[in-house]
Amino acid sequence: MSANKKATLTYADGKTTEFPVLGGSIGPDVIDIRTLYGKTGMFTYDPGFLSTASCSSKITYIDGDEGVLLYRGYPIEQLAQHCDFLEVCYLLLNGELPNAPQNKNFVDVITRHTMVHDQMTRFFQGFRRDAHPMAVLVGTVGAMSAFYHDSLDINNPEHRKVSAMRLIAKLPTMVAMAYKYNMGQPFVYPRNDLSYTANFMRMMFAVPAEDYKGNPVLVRALDRIFILHADHEQNASTSTVRLSGSSGANPFACIAAGIACLWGPAHGGANEAALNMLEQIGDASKVGEFIAKVKDKNSGVKLMGFGHRVYKNYDPRAKLMRETCHEVLNALGLHNDRLFKLAIALEKIALEDDYFVQRKLYPNVDFYSGIVQRALGIPTSMFTCIFSLARTVGWIAQWQEMIADPEYKIGRPRQLYDGAPRRDLVPMDKR
Ligand code: SDX
Repeated sequence: MSANKKATLTYADGKTTEFPVLGGSIGPDVIDIRTLYGKTGMFTYDPGFLSTASCSSKITYIDGDEGVLLYRGYPIEQLAQHCDFLEVCYLLLNGELPNAPQNKNFVDVITRHTMVHDQMTRFFQGFRRDAHPMAVLVGTVGAMSAFYHDSLDINNPEHRKVSAMRLIAKLPTMVAMAYKYNMGQPFVYPRNDLSYTANFMRMMFAVPAEDYKGNPVLVRALDRIFILHADHEQNASTSTVRLSGSSGANPFACIAAGIACLWGPAHGGANEAALNMLEQIGDASKVGEFIAKVKDKNSGVKLMGFGHRVYKNYDPRAKLMRETCHEVLNALGLHNDRLFKLAIALEKIALEDDYFVQRKLYPNVDFYSGIVQRALGIPTSMFTCIFSLARTVGWIAQWQEMIADPEYKIGRPRQLYDGAPRRDLVPMDKR
């Protein structure tokens, strides 16, 4: 980080004050305003943080105008094509891609931590069978701190590493358990002779009554979906994890907070909402009517899976997701899938419509991911659980980066107060 430029603020009665401008390796510079309140008695005001950098980071870079996404400098397109998810996990956590011995060791450690404490199965019994799987996941991931309290000293790098390995290894098992519980089927234990993603698919879809044989094309597709969802800079759920972690909360509690935030339909819940939207539209003949509703501000209807705070161009993940969609549907002989054809028609119309062009609204990662997951046999209510599974490594990498930063302190934004000035209380009989 370099501070070789200055920004000057002119404010009350022509007073001026300077602030350092910090430059990173690529992307926009930042104005370091940490001394603003001390110097001027004023706060900045930026609801939704549209112009605010909350931290410096070396993990993920997004260029929203160019539609670029880099994990530790590597383009998402190259990682999705040439790596598997655990390789990308290693990269996000350590900053470099693993060589063969490093990769083998990492895979071994993750593989040998995929089982959960057997008493955790009782937590699931406490939920209604028809509870939303995300409600179950928030609760059970938070409860991990009730079992793995031998590694909760966040100032101990070894404890941070052990917690990271446990979370990455156990999330697939817990997501599959949430699904099995919802289905009323018995839990399926992990197997150490399967790859990370093949193991997850078996835990999701195997039943005791018959052998389960995974389809390598579908396993590869889901592994790529995990890669595309692994990290994404300071999005809402990552910022939630960082803010929770800044108070010293344990990593399991922080990840549970991230899962809770991701659940929202404006964020990770959009893939579930996008598929429900396609089902609601029904077929291409209804697209015009639906688009008209979206453009009518009073309808409150949004085109789910479209738009993004940062991408004002095509989300590179959406392109890769659309390719994966093609591959999966072809592998399953579903190339005429009704919803996929509807999605393609909807995208075409939206991309040619001035309302969306003017607002730079393009498909985001959530637009196609629901169709792929549905084709993989994953029910709509599980989509955001899959997103949580994949994003856990990003949340952990960002949390570790913050805790390891000697400069980090508890996050505590201020406000513009617009409420009642000081006043004295009137007794009830006089109100
Ligand atoms: C994710 O941050 C991340 O990185 C998130 C994520 C990640 O990997 O972590 O990428 C994952 O959350 C992807 C986004 C998934 N959400 C959706 O698909 C839900 C639908 N999208 C919108 O809710 C919206 O686009 C947001 C929330 C994603 C972004 O909203 P912003 O940046 O606050 O933009 P905005 O709401 O101010 O929209 C600007 C304009 C508005 O119109 P005007 O007031 O200017 O007339 O665009 C309109 C909005 O009404 N608009 C949409 C729209 N998205 C924005 N209109 C219709 N349909 C949409 N989807």
